[in-house]
Amino acid sequence: MKLLVVGSGGREHALAWRLSQSPGVTQVFVAPGNGGTAREPGLKNLPITDIAELAEFALREKVAFTVVGPEAPLAAGIVDLFREKRLRIFGPTRAAARLESSKDFAKAFMSRHGIPTAAYQTFSDAGQAREWVTERGAPIVIKADGLAAGKGVVVAQTVAEAHAAIDAMLVDNRMGDAGARVVIEDFLEGEEASFIVMVDGRNILPLASSQDHKRLADGDQGPNTGGMGAYSPAPVITPEVHARVMREIIRPTVEAMASEGTPYTGFLYAGLMIDAAGKPRTLEFNCRLGDPETQPIMMRMRGDFARIIEHAIDGELDRTDIEWDRRTALGVVLAAAHYPEEPRRGDPIHGLPAQGNALGDDCMVFHAGTVEGDGHTTVTAGGRVLCVTALGDSVRVAQTRAYRVIETVGFNGMQLRRDIGHRAIGRSARG
Ligand code: AMP
Ligand code: GLY
Repeated sequence: MKLLVVGSGGREHALAWRLSQSPGVTQVFVAPGNGGTAREPGLKNLPITDIAELAEFALREKVAFTVVGPEAPLAAGIVDLFREKRLRIFGPTRAAARLESSKDFAKAFMSRHGIPTAAYQTFSDAGQAREWVTERGAPIVIKADGLAAGKGVVVAQTVAEAHAAIDAMLVDNRMGDAGARVVIEDFLEGEEASFIVMVDGRNILPLASSQDHKRLADGDQGPNTGGMGAYSPAPVITPEVHARVMREIIRPTVEAMASEGTPYTGFLYAGLMIDAAGKPRTLEFNCRLGDPETQPIMMRMRGDFARIIEHAIDGELDRTDIEWDRRTALGVVLAAAHYPEEPRRGDPIHGLPAQGNALGDDCMVFHAGTVEGDGHTTVTAGGRVLCVTALGDSVRVAQTRAYRVIETVGFNGMQLRRDIGHRAIGRSARG
């Protein structure tokens, strides 16, 4: 059976790699893929990004099913189009993807259904927005309503900073249409975690928990990024917190999407803030897997993933389960020079495995912003370049393995954090 994965990031590399290991899968096309998927046994890059052309390809090649990685094609309606053509695809419709594509939609939805999240107001008028912030005080959080590729959120420590963010989005139009409306919400304290589930419209199958590291620099300093590293499982998601997240956030969301006539299908990612008492609140919904969270999650997944996705497409997620490697997986992102502002391209990467992307059984070099250069070289072609992901019996062991590999892999101007996993390690040190 042939499969199609849409996207070109580290998430899609990990997803396609795991799918290619299912029995019965002969080939996984990755559209458009990257320099790593080009080297991966069982995967084949497909230089197509237009969704109508992808549908034609899937029909022509008799692709058994398609899985969509990033939000943009989902928000553009790739699932609606494939379904019209009777093509099997796993992802949310355009209407359901509004949980991610409009922060205002997501916040209004959560308040309608009593799903815990920070108190908020939406504004398109800068004067009113400024007034609200002056009244409410800092710290306070300003979010562009639309998709902004991880750059639409400002956690303002002062009222002046909040005013500047409002002016940038509503007056100077710095985010374009995405920033034509802003959501302003209360600052929440606690520890973040990523909680990702598979949904078939009605049934829910949770994936292993994970934690991202959004800031560029060690100690959670510097600008927000798409994510500089992740590990799974996240110890902050204790069995009790897990049960609360399912009961208070995930199940009510899936039920309400169905009752509002936009049943949710696909991966659903709740970005959570867990407070000191273990109460989870939703910071955001994404209508897809996380990047880089997917890389450690896929390292730990056991069994036949293609079969699980088929169950999901058939509305039968209640008939299946996922087995997880008990070990921790930890991934460290190697980012290009000048990421996140203006990542430099074209730096040759050294130290990659001679063939494929595996280093033994328990380490993978997942690619994101890479392309095949001349001869046998692979060069940087985006902000986040590689995600070196290793398994270990503890967070510390997985971390040591990943950083050991990084001693031999790299490129000019490479940026990385040296403290991926610090919260989990701090937690176990505190007992
Ligand atoms: P978002 O894209 O909405 O997840 O926001 C990006 C990042 O901003 C999150 O990962 C948090 O670190 C931070 N953030 C967002 N909303 C809040 C909030 N209400 N309180 C505290 N931090 C937040
Ligand atoms: N790593 C965060 C995200 O995928 O949105």
